[in-house]
Amino acid sequence: MSEEDKNEYLKIAQNVGVFNHEEIEVILEILEEYKRFPEKDYFLFEEREGETITGFLLFGKNSLTKFCWEVYWLVVNKNFQGRGIGKKLMKRMEEFILPKEDKAIIRLETSSKTEYAHARRLYERLEFNEAVRIPNFYDQGDDLMIYYKQIGNLDPDELLYDYQNRQEASVSTHNLQNASI
Ligand SMILES: CC(C)(COP(=O)(O)OP(=O)(O)OC[C@H]1O[C@@H](n2cnc3c(N)ncnc32)[C@H](O)[C@@H]1OP(=O)(O)O)[C@@H](O)C(=O)NCCC(=O)NCCS
Repeated sequence: MSEEDKNEYLKIAQNVGVFNHEEIEVILEILEEYKRFPEKDYFLFEEREGETITGFLLFGKNSLTKFCWEVYWLVVNKNFQGRGIGKKLMKRMEEFILPKEDKAIIRLETSSKTEYAHARRLYERLEFNEAVRIPNFYDQGDDLMIYYKQIGNLDPDELLYDYQNRQEASVSTHNLQNASI
């Protein structure tokens, strides 16, 4: 990634008007890390129209997990929003991950603020599930929302079975702990 491109990514992120100063700083840090060590911890996909960068996606594998990938930042140039670029970037990421993993979980965090309504709608259209919501996480009235999607060779019945087993295991552990008090 050239220095020029890095500055362009940053400008696009600033111009979308939803990210605060700290968030822009974090995007810059990740871009710099990617520039130093491309595809080590972070992957970057971009879309262009001619010379113009129309959007980019920063994502990576969660190193503490077997097959969980994280979406860090998805940004579409303000002048090109609503034309399918965000969706395309997310789809490209799925197509990139799948040959590497037999199955994968993609996880992302977003905010409940109205500024992120399009982002949430996009994730729901792409069949991401809302996993958890922590009220007032970022600020009063600004909840953290975590979404996930399972891709690849995952049998939904098996997943449900696993989930139920874990629930039952945690209930019986809880009962055991209470019994020993
Ligand atoms: C959220 C964002 C990435 C979406 O990218 P995009 O290229 O504009 O979205 P797409 O054109 O691919 O739209 C995909 C879906 O999202 C929804 N959507 C996106 N933009 C929308 C808009 N302006 N109005 C209504 N719905 C919209 C639509 O439901 C659309 O689905 P459909 O095509 O089946 O109707 C982009 O708006 C953006 O960069 N926003 C600011 C930064 C941000 O919020 N990033 C996410 C941080 S968590």
